[in-house]
Amino acid sequence: MPTPCRPTILPLPPRLSACAIVLLSAYALLLPAPSQAADLAAPDVDTAGLAALSDPDTERNPYRGDARAIAIGREAFNQTCAVCHGADADAHRSPAPDLRRIGQSCRRVAEPALRLRCQTDADYYFRSTVEKGKIKLGIEHMPPWKGILSTELIWAIRSFVESAPRTSHP
Ligand code: HEC
Repeated sequence: MPTPCRPTILPLPPRLSACAIVLLSAYALLLPAPSQAADLAAPDVDTAGLAALSDPDTERNPYRGDARAIAIGREAFNQTCAVCHGADADAHRSPAPDLRRIGQSCRRVAEPALRLRCQTDADYYFRSTVEKGKIKLGIEHMPPWKGILSTELIWAIRSFVESAPRTSHP
């Protein structure tokens, strides 16, 4: 009979309960070894087809729907992100979340200005998360990609992920 996960087992601060530690440790085991994560390298892709950014700080994906950016983004994704987020962004049985759902609900917003705002928020979240990585309670769930991936490449990856089909699994 497994011991139930009780937050009160250890005298820890409430936000760092025993339950959280057990869950975080189990989660960390699913990720690739830190040595793998430390060997971060830019993907070997030809980015010549990506248009120069008129505003490098833009919070909105400038390549949305651009077929060439999607193809470059797909290649880059499969080299750098697929190890955790699944080949072709299909997160099936992957240790990291399904990125295809980020901003998907914006499509249901009828009012054009609001839909644009919604997409821009999702774009900015995507870009800034990729740049900063995900570090929680000192555990690196995702490394920061700033300085490794150009902003152009991050937007190309975003364009690919958004266009990646949802696959159904048995
Ligand atoms: C070493 C594994 C790993 C690699 C490689 C990796 N990620 Fe992640 N990523 C994660 C994990 C794990 C999370 C979830 C972290 C959390 O929220 O605790 C995550 C979260 C994210 C999020 C936020 C998802 C959400 O639902 O909020 C984005 C965006 C993201 N990753 C993009 C990327 C992109 C783009 C790449 C490739 C350039 C990449 N990741 C490579 C492990 C990885």
